[in-house]
Amino acid sequence: MATKKKDGAKRDVPSSMGRKTAAMMVEPAKGKLGVMVVGLGAVATTMIAGVEAVRRGLAKPIGSLTQMGTIRLGKRTDNHSPLIKDFVPLADLKDIVFTGWDIFEENVYEAATHAAVLDPETLKKLKPYLSRIKPMPAVFDRYYVKRLDGKHVKKGKNKRDLADQLRADIRAFKKTVDRVVMIWAGSTEIFLKPTAVHKSIEAFEKGLEKNDPGIAPSQIYAYAALTEGVPFANGAPNLTVDFPAMIELSKQNAAPICGKDFKTGQTFMKTVLAPAFKARMLGVKGWFSTNILGNRDGEVLDEPHSFKTKEESKLGSLEYIFQPDLYPDLYSDIYHKIRINYYPPRGDEKEAWDNIDIFGWLGYPMQLKIDFLCRDSILAAPIALDLVLFLDLAKRTPDLRSLGIQEWLSFYLKSPQTAKGLYPEHDLFIQSMKLKNTLRHIMGADLITHLGLEYYD
Ligand SMILES: NC(=O)c1ccc[n+]([C@@H]2O[C@H](COP(=O)([O-])OP(=O)(O)OC[C@H]3O[C@@H](n4cnc5c(N)ncnc54)[C@H](O)[C@@H]3O)[C@@H](O)[C@H]2O)c1
Repeated sequence: MATKKKDGAKRDVPSSMGRKTAAMMVEPAKGKLGVMVVGLGAVATTMIAGVEAVRRGLAKPIGSLTQMGTIRLGKRTDNHSPLIKDFVPLADLKDIVFTGWDIFEENVYEAATHAAVLDPETLKKLKPYLSRIKPMPAVFDRYYVKRLDGKHVKKGKNKRDLADQLRADIRAFKKTVDRVVMIWAGSTEIFLKPTAVHKSIEAFEKGLEKNDPGIAPSQIYAYAALTEGVPFANGAPNLTVDFPAMIELSKQNAAPICGKDFKTGQTFMKTVLAPAFKARMLGVKGWFSTNILGNRDGEVLDEPHSFKTKEESKLGSLEYIFQPDLYPDLYSDIYHKIRINYYPPRGDEKEAWDNIDIFGWLGYPMQLKIDFLCRDSILAAPIALDLVLFLDLAKRTPDLRSLGIQEWLSFYLKSPQTAKGLYPEHDLFIQSMKLKNTLRHIMGADLITHLGLEYYD
């Protein structure tokens, strides 16, 4: 069955839809979606320039599930797999308006040129549009990102004052658009562990007044967003929304959050291969991962305190996928090591090597080597776009918006966030199924279990 969208476009809705109609469940994506990006560096400018290039028909949105992905509805024999963006009411790319903050004054054209991810010819075609996007002064403190120093920063009497200034920026932007989402594409901050200040909204607000050192700039942005009811995505491994005060704030203000750290290159591969070894009951002895990277992110990660934050985020996936407690003979003794080396000649074109020592039947050893010559921001930009669009969808979905954590978005993140007591799902294919089933669920379609016995009746 096909229904008409409010804007007149056709939308696929399965004939098996239950009591509720789609319109009752998810509010339409009417008007402009404002996207506030923290940190207009390589990932952010590649996303913004990419969206504009796609809008102008200059390129295809490759790597973006929201733009290119389909979703199967009903039985395999129904042959019904509409585009995701025709099935759920997502904001159209033409309705996205970007703004952001950075510690450098460069506009998005200058920052993109500096990042050198996209070629100069493409950027020139987009120059008038990109030059108009100028960053607002940032909330920044060198204590948390030691390798950076920028002058385009806000001044305030304490962290509470800085949060209020960000809230004023959000309110001013809200007047120009219909809905707002915020995404952190800023640098990796030093490693922080949750403390007493993170335990409740009240403690956090006191901490803002008292300039508690446990409150990093990324948390101040997230606090401002969630307090204003704005969904927040975290592209970095920072401690930002993954503690009780933020989870409470997210639920209280119906401002969805998800996990952290874009799952782009090496961890993406890990969460594909590790489930494959486990599915076949092949053992793993060691997994050595190393990277060379020459962009500004690489420079920041060259500093041990920022690297520690990234390392923790990257390490988590294998432990959860392999479940060594369930499979002690196969996975209880894995040596897992991760290295990131700053190597300027490569710029954004990272190279990631993995050496995996596995073992099979009767314990016989084997090895697998991966050499992934990837482009960091080319992989991250579509993820950032999808997170923004799906968080906006979550905000318009009564079933989702007050849950706080959107576990179904784990698909995009190295460190998924879950309800208390739940272990995170890192397996990419479980995550993909969870995401698509969530979309089916909110649209009232039948979930797909892949059981398939009905075909043999
Ligand atoms: N590219 C990837 O594949 C990938 C994958 C996972 C995570 N990430 C993370 O995404 C983030 C962005 O990566 P990138 O390659 O674009 O880095 P980048 O260094 O090019 O950009 C980061 C930008 O954030 C700005 N910034 C830092 N602190 C800020 C603050 N407090 N307020 C406003 N702006 C601030 C910096 O000035 C810089 O322009 C990094 O944390 C990185 O670790 C990237």
